[in-house]
Amino acid sequence: MSPDSHPRPAVFIASRLIDAVESSFESEFDVTRTAGGDPLSELLASESAFDAMVLSLDVVMGAEQIEKLPSSLRALATYSVGTDHIDLAAAGRRGIAVFNTPGVLADSVAENALFLMLGAARRATESIDLIRGRAWPGWSPEQLVGVQLAGRTLGILGMGDIGLRVASRAGALGMEILYCNRRRLAEAESGGADYRLDAQSLIRDSDVLLLACPSTDETRGILNAALLEDAKPELIVVNIARGDLVDDRALIAALRERRVWAAGLDVFAGEPNLDPDYFELPNVFMLPHIGSSTFEARVGMGQILIDALSRWSAGLPVANRVC
Ligand code: GLV
Repeated sequence: MSPDSHPRPAVFIASRLIDAVESSFESEFDVTRTAGGDPLSELLASESAFDAMVLSLDVVMGAEQIEKLPSSLRALATYSVGTDHIDLAAAGRRGIAVFNTPGVLADSVAENALFLMLGAARRATESIDLIRGRAWPGWSPEQLVGVQLAGRTLGILGMGDIGLRVASRAGALGMEILYCNRRRLAEAESGGADYRLDAQSLIRDSDVLLLACPSTDETRGILNAALLEDAKPELIVVNIARGDLVDDRALIAALRERRVWAAGLDVFAGEPNLDPDYFELPNVFMLPHIGSSTFEARVGMGQILIDALSRWSAGLPVANRVC
């Protein structure tokens, strides 16, 4: 059935969203939710014809899966800003529209970047282990001495919406900001942050390196042994983007040898099966991919997809259409 002739689009929700968001989808569309099994098999077994699927990072839509989608299904709405779990070229070949959730989660992810930076700089893992392990002997001047962020330089790799919001917050902490981005921003846009042409020149001048770029063929594995050789001593690495930007073996070796002083990591290659060596490193402050996990972001992500699907089904242009 074409979107135009469908009064209420039929939507298959393939990932569990928060209840408030699922209820909002239900008030706008004819919704069927996953029963908790393999969502593609459920969709293919269903007697209903769906116009769109809502999915998130836990549902991979590679070329193989996209080829199996029924011809009624004309849109994928991903409850994420990242789209690396979807083969966009394969979706494009099938004429399937893809929508994502930019902007609405940027404040939450930026706040999480600050949390990771501060956690790494102030030795949060060791501090929490000490106090929760009931092993704290009491205050002493040499205990858990960390580093202060004020006066240090933050290099942001990927100065999009999220990078910019981290920059303004880090500026308020007294940090100098550098950035490297596919596109050099106009002075007014960059908030005065200094541009670096490539990752090498960025890492050379940074005390804290923030990975905030999408995972693409160009950026995958960008933080590798060669790049780390150019790092300033005592670098702090923070990753809020995707785990596969990092060569884990190279970062782990550098953290072990303290060539990298600490890391704050929210994302990992092969999630949730991260490299087990990270658990052995007290100078790693790690979180289970919670960057956008705030009530505000989750509700905003739902609303932007509801708006996208409503506009798309009415034949209107959609700003957050990625293909
Ligand atoms: C989270 O990682 C997202 O892409 O939204």
